Amino acid sequence: MNDDIQPTPEGQAFKPGPIRPLGKVLAVTSGKGGVGKTFVSANLAAALAKRGQKVLVLDADLGLANLDVVLNLYPKITLHDVFTGKAKLEEAIVKAPGGFSVLLAGSGMVEYSRLTPNVREDFLRIIAGLLPHYDIVLLDTGAGISDVVLFAVSLASEVLVVATPEPTSLTDAYATIKVLVGEQQRRIIRMVINQTARMGDGRAITNQLQQVLDRFVVAKPGEKVRLIHMGDIPADPAVRLAVMRRQLMMTTMPGCPAALAISQLAGKIEDTLINTPQ
Ligand SMILES: Nc1ncnc2c1ncn2[C@@H]1O[C@H](COP(=O)(O)OP(=O)(O)OP(=O)(O)O)[C@@H](O)[C@H]1O
Ligand SMILES: [Mg+2]
Repeated sequence: MNDDIQPTPEGQAFKPGPIRPLGKVLAVTSGKGGVGKTFVSANLAAALAKRGQKVLVLDADLGLANLDVVLNLYPKITLHDVFTGKAKLEEAIVKAPGGFSVLLAGSGMVEYSRLTPNVREDFLRIIAGLLPHYDIVLLDTGAGISDVVLFAVSLASEVLVVATPEPTSLTDAYATIKVLVGEQQRRIIRMVINQTARMGDGRAITNQLQQVLDRFVVAKPGEKVRLIHMGDIPADPAVRLAVMRRQLMMTTMPGCPAALAISQLAGKIEDTLINTPQ
């Protein structure tokens, strides 16, 4: 399955090669930090679970994982223990309040960012082993274009870039997309615009980004990079409230505007990614 992984000499920076699609694995990533990836991952997982999908969220923010805090989960066993042989994979999977499963990285995972070929193989093996048990696996990644983030994204067959309407978030989203096109040969990038002020803002922003890509980012002659606008999530005080209370917004405030938007996003993800044969 992983014939295209090139061994990297120890100590050298990991250069992710072409993507190795693994089925229904969706990386939730962003250029700028703090734009709402963890919030989207957790609540999207809950919304998909509500629709009857079997969902696993993997905390792939290997350096600064905080999915545990958002979900108020403090499992004793994490992916770190699986990697070090202290526990079995099944033991590290916990049930989250929203009816989905979670696999937390745990402290120490950042060591694995010195991504040797063995570690990368192990990661791929773990995700490949999980896939048959879930309809979709969401990877809540870190922000930016560091080796660790790009590695996490490279494990996914699809990418959802979260951006906010702020100019800094958009320029960073653009930089991320450019790298994903150049280094991972991505041709389709899904977008969600979070914290919008008005209906329709997100689509307009995605269209603007598409225009810039069309002008400045050439994939290969004759090939276009396509951004697919998956939805907008409005700025909503309920989001912060839920985080402060360490509750899942989707379950405790299902009628708030952000929760309704996430439900819509889940419907679109279900239609385009889960119910469509790969
Ligand atoms: N739609 C929204 N409306 C209001 N506030 C929001 C919204 N989305 C996110 N936030 C706020 O932004 C904060 C950061 O969100 P989150 O932790 O999900 O970002 P992140 O992209 O995962 O950050 P990091 O890059 O550090 O992993 C939330 O705790 C919340 O307060
Ligand atoms: Mg996060």
